[in-house]
Amino acid sequence: MNVHIVVLAAGKGTRMLSARPKVLHRVAGLPMIDHVLASATALQPKTTTVVVGYQAELLKAALSDHPGLTFVVQEPQRGTAHALLVAEPALRGQTGTLVLLSGDVPMLTPETLKRLLDRHTATGAAATVLTAMVDRPRGYGRIVRSGEQIARIVEERDASSAERDIREINSGIYAFALDGLFDAVRTIAPQNAQQEYYLTDLVAVYRQRGLGVETVTVSNADEIRGINSRNELAEVSRIVRQQKNDELMAAGVTIEDPATTYIDAAVQVGADTIIRPGVSLEGRTTIGASCEIHSGVRIVDSRIGDRVTVLNHCVVTNASIADGASVGPFAHLRNEADVREKARVGNFVELKKTVLGPGSKSMHLAYLGDATIGANVNIGAGTITCNYDGVKKNATVIEDDAFIGSDSQLIAPVTVGKGAYVGSGTTVRVDVPAGSLAVSAGKQRNIEGWVEKKGKKSKTTE
Ligand code: UD1
Ligand code: CA
Repeated sequence: MNVHIVVLAAGKGTRMLSARPKVLHRVAGLPMIDHVLASATALQPKTTTVVVGYQAELLKAALSDHPGLTFVVQEPQRGTAHALLVAEPALRGQTGTLVLLSGDVPMLTPETLKRLLDRHTATGAAATVLTAMVDRPRGYGRIVRSGEQIARIVEERDASSAERDIREINSGIYAFALDGLFDAVRTIAPQNAQQEYYLTDLVAVYRQRGLGVETVTVSNADEIRGINSRNELAEVSRIVRQQKNDELMAAGVTIEDPATTYIDAAVQVGADTIIRPGVSLEGRTTIGASCEIHSGVRIVDSRIGDRVTVLNHCVVTNASIADGASVGPFAHLRNEADVREKARVGNFVELKKTVLGPGSKSMHLAYLGDATIGANVNIGAGTITCNYDGVKKNATVIEDDAFIGSDSQLIAPVTVGKGAYVGSGTTVRVDVPAGSLAVSAGKQRNIEGWVEKKGKKSKTTE
């Protein structure tokens, strides 16, 4: 059985009041349409067509990493039936079932899609509508039945007050037999409050022709929630976030305050890791087992090993922290920062494109950029790798067991050899050979009696 997917995503999303296409607004870190496309792949479709319109180029570019999508442009956007007709050329000569999805319904599960398809196939219906029973049907099309059978779908704007009381709603998701579909859709006229071509009218068209129209009702109505406003975006995001937190807790992760914990859909966290309140774990982040992530930490697209501690208010983006290491509080790891096993990074330390080797430490106030630091190195407070000469970035190498005294500057490119020492306050301009001590500060002079001669009062008397 051939399955073809069409995703409607041409609408402006007027109620969002946004310059961006609605379907690119993110839910749990991913554009809402990405969630839809991810569920769709479970049906192993032969083709997937996305109907774009408003900001079509932007949307196409945003979806360019999805393989095998065909885009068709609907301009202007005259309604959901018109949108489906725009996809017709992309499906010419195809047979089987068309599953129609909405780019703004991101919580739909693959299981529900399979149920829809199975029922559609088993009954041999011309169309199968996915519906839900809800307490507050406002804003959705209502399912009007005659007896057991679905008779038609009426949009909120066009519904009588009795119809508005119907609690069974249209999800906007359907399975259609491709045979005869487009000819039937062409008969739909824009006779409604919005003067649009409504795909929902196809139900009545099919029923009048005596064709089979079936329904499948989702058990969890949240799944088919559509996003039309910022408010609904927040509501759906909250549900998705809660689902993710529940999933992780069920797998052995402690989340102290799920209400303030933001974990994107693709993030992985190992068992026995403790996540304190107010943490954001984003993008493709993976966190190992038995870690502790403290309040106010944000981790984006990063790899964290096992038994890692990230203390309060660290920002970690595109970085990696190996087993047993400890970072923070107030550390900034970015752009390929690579903290190796049992290394320690303390407060107000920034690492960029830098390897901090196993067991090495940088505990206070440092900038380490474009540096390769070996094992068991001590980086003193206030150390700076001067990696930028105004034109290009240069590398610093600090070999195993070296000791960099506080308030030192390493003017790159430069190498500090194995076991070498750099004295406090040294400006390192040339390589330091292994085993030697580098000092650059001049000799200290004390001018005795200077304070009294200047007539200054000793501060301690105040
Ligand atoms: C639609 C259904 C409604 C259903 C609801 C479920 C119709 C007429 N109504 O209403 O019965 O309860 O979805 O969420 O179908 N789109 C296009 N081109 C267009 C118009 C819309 O591609 O010309 C796309 C939109 O980008 C969106 C989807 O179709 O992804 C649904 O459109 P929207 O305007 O949100 O329809 P609703 O009013 O929510
Ligand atoms: Ca909608």
